[in-house]
Amino acid sequence: MKFDIITIFPQILDSYLSESILGRAQKQKLVEIKTHNLRDFVKDKYKKIDDKPYGGGAGMAFKIEPLIKAIQSITKSYKPKTESLAIIFTPAGKQFDNKTAAQFAKKYDNLILICGRYEGIDARLEKVAKNLKLKIENFSIGPYVLTGGELPAMVLIDSISRQIPGVLGKDESIEEKRLGVGVPVYTRPETFVCGGKKYNVPKVLLSGNHKEIEKWRLSKRVKN
Ligand code: ADE
Repeated sequence: MKFDIITIFPQILDSYLSESILGRAQKQKLVEIKTHNLRDFVKDKYKKIDDKPYGGGAGMAFKIEPLIKAIQSITKSYKPKTESLAIIFTPAGKQFDNKTAAQFAKKYDNLILICGRYEGIDARLEKVAKNLKLKIENFSIGPYVLTGGELPAMVLIDSISRQIPGVLGKDESIEEKRLGVGVPVYTRPETFVCGGKKYNVPKVLLSGNHKEIEKWRLSKRVKN
């Protein structure tokens, strides 16, 4: 799976994506992540990627030309029959969830993640992309408004990548399939004392009774 991110702040994404499980997945070539600075696709010397919206109103909107140039520069290296999708991040988009993450991990070879800022991006982008035969969809990561699409892009990359075989350790992914997620965990000490109060690990986890432990865990899980 290759993720191409179009952004005006590539450095925001670099540190998160290069550490831990995602860093390892890239080294193992299970995922490839590339950021593209939208300003590199502007000719004028001021690198102007935005302009005032027609009809007036506060803020600025991303111009369409640099976005289309960035997309074309990414797709020109696609192999024939590549399954690809471009995603625009907007609070008005479809709600992204874990089921979608799993479907995307299976279905797509390439995802283009378009990170908007300010008041949005020129709305013609969708039509133009479709006419260029590129699948394009709007997604939201939740019912709140962020200042840009960079956090949503990282959320998508993280949640999709962990569904790609080999990205999580074998034991972790088997455990997740069996139990779901959200099962509480405890580690040493057995009793933690704070402010004169004792906090104990649930007895069942210390019982050594694997059947009972499994039953307890299943009762606590969150299905996803
Ligand atoms: N851009 C701003 N807020 C957003 C959200 N909640 N989801 C996706 N993109 C956004």
